[in-house]
Amino acid sequence: MAKKKKKEKLLFQSPKGMRDIMPNDQFYWDKVRGAINKVAEIYGFSRIDTPIVESAELFERSGKATDIVEKQMFFLKAKGGDRLVLRPEGTAPIVRAYFEHGLAKAPQPIKLFYFGPMFRYEQPQAGRFRQHYQAGFEILGGDANPVYDAEAILASYGLMEELKIKNLVVKINSLGCRQCRPLYVKKLQEYYRKRKNLICKDCRYRLAIRPLRLLDCKKEKCVELKSGAPLIVDKLCRDCREHLKEVLEYLDGVSLPYSLDPYLVRGLDYYNKTVFEFFLATEEENKPNIALGGGGRYDYLSEMIGVKRLAATGSSIGAERLIEAMKFYKPTVAKKEAEVFLIHIGKEAKKKGFVILEQLRRAGIRAMEIFGKESLRSQLRVADSKKSRLALIFGQKEVFEESIIIRDMEGGAQETVPLKKLTEEVKKRLR
Ligand code: HAM
Repeated sequence: MAKKKKKEKLLFQSPKGMRDIMPNDQFYWDKVRGAINKVAEIYGFSRIDTPIVESAELFERSGKATDIVEKQMFFLKAKGGDRLVLRPEGTAPIVRAYFEHGLAKAPQPIKLFYFGPMFRYEQPQAGRFRQHYQAGFEILGGDANPVYDAEAILASYGLMEELKIKNLVVKINSLGCRQCRPLYVKKLQEYYRKRKNLICKDCRYRLAIRPLRLLDCKKEKCVELKSGAPLIVDKLCRDCREHLKEVLEYLDGVSLPYSLDPYLVRGLDYYNKTVFEFFLATEEENKPNIALGGGGRYDYLSEMIGVKRLAATGSSIGAERLIEAMKFYKPTVAKKEAEVFLIHIGKEAKKKGFVILEQLRRAGIRAMEIFGKESLRSQLRVADSKKSRLALIFGQKEVFEESIIIRDMEGGAQETVPLKKLTEEVKKRLR
């Protein structure tokens, strides 16, 4: 029996949880970038790019009691003692930029979008990386109108639709406001305190520090217990109830499929009122149904980072998860074929062939070659594997006569044409 060759361990590999985006995947990334730009333009969002590195305090203030801020930030050792981190998310930096650039002076609200890498020190697993990309849509300023929550949802939904992702569902909840949420949290804590012995160790910690996350535990015994817990939707104040109702009415108006999920809480601390996440309605076999994206209203975030109150809402989508879903619906993509393949025979032909290739490329023709191989047969084989439409055969005789043979790779017909007319003849055949 043939022994399986052991894979050699390389001295250097990409850092844990971070990936190279290889050429075969670039098709999907290009599609994502194109769709983001298109949807942003349609919905009236302008592009903003903030630095990948920000002050640690920006995030610490915006999400003290969250895993993302408490446990998952990548700190940088910077000269001068600045406390800097690789950004774990894009929303707090956008709020910072809004005030730093005086955007409050422009007509409100301001609609901004971004696409870039985020960093979280997580345990890597399916759909969860330490470097991941997010496309985000944020609406800042103006009044805290429910219509903007609906717009933020629609922009992200539109992005996924543009990428032909089907069976999407939006789960929505409200986390209330400074008036009604503390009353609800008290009730929730009362419920869980009475059942402290029945919940997992993590949830006992959550009970004291971040009680809303009790609703998010996936452990079986905690899931069971959750069904009896008080629901925030029953405890919302009038204003928050009305706000949620209006968001849903806007979504109903455009027939967007959503489901109310009274247990939905978010991994970041800065939300009030509307929160939502996007899921695929059809579950893939053996794969956890993780959120493609999420977001919500964050009217208090600006105050948390030390500036004045700013009504704001937004959403973001994870590109890796988006691409996973795209591959589910379109698992393979035809690569762009070479249009012509230059085959050289002899040293002189190689030298002149190089110039010919450049001429064709400057005329916008996808021209390939394999200068490392010399025999006609092996070059033709490569031309065939690259699915080239035409092969250009260039040997000693052709160099001497200033001509070249054009061979149709499908039919096998070939014709000798003057070199001078090559570009024109190739274009004619490709048309
Ligand atoms: P988030 O839910 O933490 O929200 O992240 C948004 C999306 O980024 C997730 O739904 C997921 O698709 C993707 N994502 C997050 N972490 C990872 C990871 N470790 N690996 C792969 N993908 C990941 C935010 O970050 C908020 N800033 C969203 C927002 C915008 N809220 C208001 N405006």
